[in-house]
Amino acid sequence: MTDFVLVLGVLAAAAAGLWAWRQFHPVSFWYGVGFPLRAALVYLTWHHVASGCKLTRNRRRFRLTLDALPVVGPASRSAATVVEHKRRVRRVDVERSPRLGLLRPTRLGWRMRLRLHDGQVPADYEKAAEGIAHAWRVHSVRVVDVRPGSVTLWATMRDPLVEVVTVPETGELLTVRPGKLENGRDWVIDFRTVPHWLNVGATQSGKSNLANALLKGLAPQPVALVGFDLKGGVEFTPYAPRLSALATTRKESVDLLVDLVGEVENRMATCRAHGARNVWTLPEDLRPMPIVVLVDEVAELFLMADKSEKDEVSRTATALLRVAQLGRAFAVYLVVCGQRVGSDLGPGVTALRAQLSGRVCHRVNDPETANMALGDLDPAALDAARAIAAETPGVCIVAGQDGSWHRARSVYVPEHEAEQAARDYAHLTPVWETLVGSAPVVRPAA
Ligand SMILES: Nc1ncnc2c1ncn2[C@@H]1O[C@H](COP(=O)(O)OP(=O)(O)OP(=O)(O)O)[C@@H](O)[C@H]1O
Ligand SMILES: [Mg+2]
Repeated sequence: MTDFVLVLGVLAAAAAGLWAWRQFHPVSFWYGVGFPLRAALVYLTWHHVASGCKLTRNRRRFRLTLDALPVVGPASRSAATVVEHKRRVRRVDVERSPRLGLLRPTRLGWRMRLRLHDGQVPADYEKAAEGIAHAWRVHSVRVVDVRPGSVTLWATMRDPLVEVVTVPETGELLTVRPGKLENGRDWVIDFRTVPHWLNVGATQSGKSNLANALLKGLAPQPVALVGFDLKGGVEFTPYAPRLSALATTRKESVDLLVDLVGEVENRMATCRAHGARNVWTLPEDLRPMPIVVLVDEVAELFLMADKSEKDEVSRTATALLRVAQLGRAFAVYLVVCGQRVGSDLGPGVTALRAQLSGRVCHRVNDPETANMALGDLDPAALDAARAIAAETPGVCIVAGQDGSWHRARSVYVPEHEAEQAARDYAHLTPVWETLVGSAPVVRPAA
């Protein structure tokens, strides 16, 4: 009896210890207990799951079988049935599941490499991913890496985008961490790697919030910020202390774009004079300050009320396209936001869109908008964009120029926080006339 009580006591203490471990240090609990248990479950059930998701293949194999044969001879004529067991080699069909490599833990789940059967393609696994996620009771399973003959699946236990808390900035020039990716990593926007971004989504989907996050992240950096806000300036005017220029009417937009094109041409001339291919290979004292241009509701730049505006619209479209085409080498970067950025806005839009290699697609109401932003990617990215729920504003699909894509969510940055950042770093705002008048410009100290 005392032994029994002792065992019960030990079990209760162990359960309480595990509970406390999980409660107070979930990360080490996951690596120490949760993941090994999960891995065992995955290996044990893989064949069954693969078969249910139609990923198995039948293979012909020779098998040694033990067959019961009736005995021919006098004994068979007796009343009792006499059989003899005989070993025979037979050809049988064996169901084989794709070979599962080593499971590697991640903070929110695990990665696993799978060897494809002959004739299988990664799309077979993309189709099966949802079924696998349900079978293992995890939030999602995604194909993340494709190599000849194998794919890597990434399983995530729970949606890390339900709540995204502030991501610390590292202070690297032209790099902002506006939120989190679904795989638990920081979402990094590095303008030097992906210079121009298209940010689309329905109303209230989180476009302006992302612009706020970018402004807040860039405000402490030695960069010039420029705004185009044809919604009467209501979005960007509060950030004016940190903006070197802000256009709120079409007339102002044309003038500002002319300045920007002029500045790009100045930078080009400086690079040519010093034998540099881009501003980053110029001597440091000659390197001009990077400019990040934020455009809110780009459709307003392209819409015309009547024919008299046609000339202005076409000048705007041409100038914006030139900035996009030439800006990347000369440190002039674009973030273009809009509800729809389709060819219905005019001929220049499709060409502009092609230059915006970074894509962020928030919740959309119509499939065409998702198609415009992500159409050249994997169809699974489009499905993921269409599945974004209205109750999770800020959730989006992010694609860089390498074709890979992620579900992500920006940190909530209310207007007053972005305004505060604009005021706090107002002293870093370069004067526009100085910036565009005489390139190169010496950077203000950070
Ligand atoms: N990342 C986020 N996390 C939490 N809430 C968010 C996030 N992004 C946006 N929201 C909420 O959604 C609301 C709408 O966001 P936002 O103003 O960015 O939408 P929008 O796409 O710019 O809409 P519109 O096209 O009408 O300008 C915000 O006021 C905020 O309450
Ligand atoms: Mg907005």
